[in-house]
Amino acid sequence: MRRENAFQGLQCTECHAIYRKGLILQKCSKCSGLLDTIINPEILSEISRDDLKPTPSMWKYRAFLPVDEKDKIVSAGEGATPLRKLSSLEGNVWAKDETKNPTGTFKDRGASLAVTALSALGVEDIVLSSEGNAGCSFALYSHIADLSCQVFLPRQANPAKVELSQKLGANVRPVDGTIADAGRRAEALSRGEGSYNASTFVTPYRHDGKGTMALEICDQLGWRVPDYVVYPVGGGVGLVGMWKMFSILEKIGWVDRRPSFIAVQPEGCAPIVKAYNSKRDDVDEWKNPETIAFGLRIPKPLAGKWILRCLRESNGIALTVTDEEIRKYMGQALKYEGLLLEPSSAATIAALPHLYWEKMIDRSAEVVVIATGSGIKTLEQF
Ligand SMILES: Cc1ncc(COP(=O)(O)O)c(C=O)c1O
Ligand SMILES: [Zn+2]
Repeated sequence: MRRENAFQGLQCTECHAIYRKGLILQKCSKCSGLLDTIINPEILSEISRDDLKPTPSMWKYRAFLPVDEKDKIVSAGEGATPLRKLSSLEGNVWAKDETKNPTGTFKDRGASLAVTALSALGVEDIVLSSEGNAGCSFALYSHIADLSCQVFLPRQANPAKVELSQKLGANVRPVDGTIADAGRRAEALSRGEGSYNASTFVTPYRHDGKGTMALEICDQLGWRVPDYVVYPVGGGVGLVGMWKMFSILEKIGWVDRRPSFIAVQPEGCAPIVKAYNSKRDDVDEWKNPETIAFGLRIPKPLAGKWILRCLRESNGIALTVTDEEIRKYMGQALKYEGLLLEPSSAATIAALPHLYWEKMIDRSAEVVVIATGSGIKTLEQF
């Protein structure tokens, strides 16, 4: 029997307007709010965990993603990354090793999904702003799917990210200023030339891709849910996406609870940590962002309210780490675990001593840190 598709349309996170599938959409056309895809848990509850076919990519969980049966998947083997025990650290800590992705970061998951969904809708030109990693990911998947791809990056971006994006065929445009300035350039080009803007949360097709990390973590733990997931928050795509998937898993009864999130940001750019710890439900722009963790240098995440809502619902914790701590734990992760991490990614490991020593979490708790990206593209920062 053919099962109905769980992907049923899109919904605005602000005014709750509903859009049907098959339209080329970015933000809500009524109120400019961010759109979420509607994935219906009732339909997913008709499948069982045993129905998942072993697949060497995140597409093992295709039923949870906003694509149709007829859509041609654009894949480079993203996801299906190892969950490694970090035995050199105190506590009970696993790393979800996203450095193993095709371009070395978890951004490949979002780009694989977005390029798949957008190609199916007939989009041919995309533009995005990025600090560098998303640019590499979108360059790769656009290259595979024959889309034209333009990337606006802060001039300060890591040179290897610029070079890799170019080698993969993207038109890379350095911008003076921060990612916010790059975002304005991407938006202007999208308005002027009609290119599809695939920037973080301007497109609704990235966060579910990163959400597959939640599905893999539970699957890899034998459908046990960790107590905490430690996440380095930039635009918040992975946090929002994983929370959605943990929630769906609980609703369909594949797991019996959800984890708490631990959001980590660098001291020099911590708009989410500041808003969460002062019990705000929206985020103020961070003035003069300054950190070596370029992926976390996002002064005002578009999805600020959404990220804070997920953190609150998960009974989460938010904390900062210094650039010195990030540097120290980049060295430790390499020496004692053989994990070559970029600064944005090492921030999660740098947060662990604070969590234990300041008694924010118990040493016996099961913790998964998301090792979001490889240091191979940030060697000049080692
Ligand atoms: C290595 C790395 N880690 C974390 C992040 C933050 O990701 P998100 O936008 O999902 O919060 C980024 C974003 O650029 C990144 O490149
Ligand atoms: Zn709306």
